[in-house]
Amino acid sequence: MSRTPRSASTVSTLARLLLIAVVLLLCGAAFAWTGGWLGGRGLSGAAMVDALQASAGPHPGFRRNHAKGICISGNFVGNGNGTRLSSTAFFEKTRATVVGRLALAGGNPYAADAAVPVRSIALQLRLPDGQEWRTGMNDIPGFPVSTPQAFQQLTLASTPDPATGKPDPALMRAFADAHPEFVAFGARMAARPHSSSFANDTYNSINAFVFIGGDGARHVVRWSLKPQLSFEPATASSADAPARDALFDDLLARLDRGPLVWHLIVTVAGAGDASNQAAVPWPEDREQVDVGTLTITGASSENLGDCRDIVYDPLVLPSGIQGSDDPLLSARSDTYAVSYRRRAGEPPGDSALHGRKAGSEP
Ligand code: HEM
Repeated sequence: MSRTPRSASTVSTLARLLLIAVVLLLCGAAFAWTGGWLGGRGLSGAAMVDALQASAGPHPGFRRNHAKGICISGNFVGNGNGTRLSSTAFFEKTRATVVGRLALAGGNPYAADAAVPVRSIALQLRLPDGQEWRTGMNDIPGFPVSTPQAFQQLTLASTPDPATGKPDPALMRAFADAHPEFVAFGARMAARPHSSSFANDTYNSINAFVFIGGDGARHVVRWSLKPQLSFEPATASSADAPARDALFDDLLARLDRGPLVWHLIVTVAGAGDASNQAAVPWPEDREQVDVGTLTITGASSENLGDCRDIVYDPLVLPSGIQGSDDPLLSARSDTYAVSYRRRAGEPPGDSALHGRKAGSEP
């Protein structure tokens, strides 16, 4: 065998390998671009989850945010009023089963309830034909910032300094100076009446979504769950500190007495209302439509209930409802998936509410 043909074949093999490497690199770059990891367009879910973990400390087996929570079950019944806004079957006079979660924001699964200012409800609604709608709502008036980048910077700035156990005031001041929407949010939070219970609280989608009507018309909306119970203010903390799990104790006691009910209220955006700025509230006078009733009949700790392995990804939507151009939506989708993969690969942590149960199955 002569040397010339062998080196020609070596060269062509090398060239082919190089081509494959270039194609793989380009594919990788394309994936990274699509995921928003290159070009400064966004953040990876992993970077976001790293920031949340750095802030709350390691709590293996738990959600990286809203770590302290309890599974809830019940149903959602549409009343027909929403069908002129969206063709979703959930707004017809139908009954969906609900597996949800009531939780406190933050990454500490053992937090004292009274110390956490933000509560949440997450719902997975399912119709008998298999259609599904997942949604997560917080009880705050909007979000502190409107972009994933700003939320990551805020998470890092508010990470407790190990020396003091508190966020560095200089970092927080610098963040506030660069983010006037955060300062405005702080003022709304300070003025917000804080309710006494999960049961008499209002929860907001905060992000905007798009409803598609049967006629194809698009309506930009946000939604809220408003409690049937009247608002009662949280009592100011007295000399006797409330029990660590006071809010969850209250929820379980109420469910043992009977179901809890909320109305799903859709707010329709007016001309000029931004769909991509979760930090900016819409004017109070916008049209609101009551589209149905959520009834929660039971609650169980995560080791007993069905919610632990559900990812309440806000972009799991039924036909007739779409995500908007709000950049927080796809960041949430990505981040929740990373949080799920990490916690699902760890031994389940023993929740503060381990073994607790109340009420009845729907
Ligand atoms: C970029 C901004 C945000 C980030 C990075 C973020 C991050 C997270 C993470 C990591 C979880 C845990 C997910 C899991 O392991 O299943 C979570 C839960 C949650 N988030 Fe967000 N979040 C963001 C914005 C929002 C917004 C705007 C809302 C609006 C209401 C929201 C509502 C919720 C709720 C309700 C839960 C609890 C879900 C449950 O109980 O399982 N989040 N968030």
